[in-house]
Amino acid sequence: MANKSLRRRLEAGLAPSLKAALPAPLQWPFRMLWRLTNRVLNEWSDVALYLSLAWYRLLGRPYIKWYADTLDRWAAAGRDEDCVKWRRAHLADSGQEDLAILVAAGMKPHHTLHEFGVGQLRSAKWFIQYLDKGNFSGNDSSRERIKNGTDIFGPEIEPKAPTLIVNEDNTFDWLNGKKVDYIWCHAVIGHMPKQDVEDLIRDVRKIMHKDTVFLFTHDEPDHLPPGWTHARMDSRNFWYSLAFFRDLATKYGYAVDNVTELLDDKPSFRSYFRLAKLMLK
Ligand SMILES: C[S@@+](CC[C@H](N)C(=O)[O-])C[C@H]1O[C@@H](n2cnc3c(N)ncnc32)[C@H](O)[C@@H]1O
Repeated sequence: MANKSLRRRLEAGLAPSLKAALPAPLQWPFRMLWRLTNRVLNEWSDVALYLSLAWYRLLGRPYIKWYADTLDRWAAAGRDEDCVKWRRAHLADSGQEDLAILVAAGMKPHHTLHEFGVGQLRSAKWFIQYLDKGNFSGNDSSRERIKNGTDIFGPEIEPKAPTLIVNEDNTFDWLNGKKVDYIWCHAVIGHMPKQDVEDLIRDVRKIMHKDTVFLFTHDEPDHLPPGWTHARMDSRNFWYSLAFFRDLATKYGYAVDNVTELLDDKPSFRSYFRLAKLMLK
């Protein structure tokens, strides 16, 4: 989104330099004005997003298609040289902690791993390099985000022959009955509406064998009102509590555990992320 890349540049360069150039008494009002401008831009862009989502609904198109098209537009808009440079630097160092968590959970190079929601291969590139050739598969509903990732990391990962799939539903049928040892899903469920999350949990068993470990993060802020198991934040952000997944696990025959302690000492995981482990019963 043009707005987004312009804002990123302002945040990265212009705004801090402007603030630093101002005399001390003007710095506080400048900060307030900057925050207010950001707030208005955010609110406005969310109204626009809700309107486009309503349009998709009217045409009978599913949420996953709307979200993929939205992210595709944003991903394709950030292809100028500055954005690619920023992305390359931002993505290169990030994601190693995700691999450390899977290794702590017992993953070895000979195991197979499927990542649901690979995005721009931020963590997938580490998984692929760690695993034996052919043992990684991943999907994302945004074709353009996968493309951003392969444009940057293609030469590094190609020798390991990863399978990358653009999915249009949450059925796992696109893995054609393949079973994997580990499944990883980070920062994805918080972008899926309730019914889609239920579909994902119901159908993930299609790629699980009796020992498969499915690790996923979900956003559960401490200030969810008592008794709430889920809430919608805005057009594309959702909170789900562990209790929500416990209900689904009971309904569909899984065991679910809170393993958030595996995120300890992992600063790249924001404080509101929880980590859950799902296995077949
Ligand atoms: C915040 S990014 C996280 C990407 C990656 N997991 C990471 O840690 O860098 C969320 C990603 O989830 C993808 N996504 C959201 N809903 C999806 C769905 N139903 N199926 C597949 N991918 C989905 C989005 O396209 C986006 O790339």
